[in-house]
Amino acid sequence: MSGPFTIRLARPVDAEALPGVQTSAGVLFRAIPDIAWVADEPVDPPEHYRPMIARGHVWVAEDARGRVVGCLFGEVADDAFHILELAVAQEAQRRGLGRRLLDAARDHARSQRLAAVTLTTFRHVAWNGPFYARYGFVELAHPEARLAALVAREAARGLPHRIAMRLAL
Ligand SMILES: CC(C)(COP(=O)(O)OP(=O)(O)OC[C@H]1O[C@@H](n2cnc3c(N)ncnc32)[C@H](O)[C@@H]1OP(=O)(O)O)[C@@H](O)C(=O)NCCC(=O)NCCS
Repeated sequence: MSGPFTIRLARPVDAEALPGVQTSAGVLFRAIPDIAWVADEPVDPPEHYRPMIARGHVWVAEDARGRVVGCLFGEVADDAFHILELAVAQEAQRRGLGRRLLDAARDHARSQRLAAVTLTTFRHVAWNGPFYARYGFVELAHPEARLAALVAREAARGLPHRIAMRLAL
């Protein structure tokens, strides 16, 4: 893994690298006792990402050797671009790639004249709620039905302290 890093739209071939990025990123959760188990959750296989890549809704961070070390993917939902996942491989974390991937999704949402970027995340994890808040996302005290349903589904899976956040564009 070596910089400089490039952020770009994902190509179909990148799908192969995304499960590995997700698994590596997830290791970070082992440090948080009540959600350490999240690190061992299965990740989606390459096929999962191909339709999103075809729609232009997946961005990757690539190192100088062309290795994919980060990704962000999502979908358009109502008037927003909803981030389904943001992940940076362990060895590439804390170099600003998470923020740069967010920039790419935000810029895309703006170019599509969407009203917001939304996501759900952990309130109590430093690289989740507080990280997004610093970026400008606001925790929704009363999320709209779409986001409330997501938070409820995540709580039913046993995920604690889930919140919905929104970045107005
Ligand atoms: C969230 C994530 C993508 C951020 O990627 P990144 O490339 O490290 O992001 P950045 O370098 O732009 O900034 C991350 C910020 O999160 C916080 N952070 C990251 N790792 C941290 C750690 N181990 N302990 C405390 N704070 C941490 C810091 O505030 C950091 O900014 P700083 O380095 O300037 O202090 C990455 O931490 C990750 O893949 N996490 C696991 C998966 C995940 O939580 N995804 C989000 C789901 S909603």
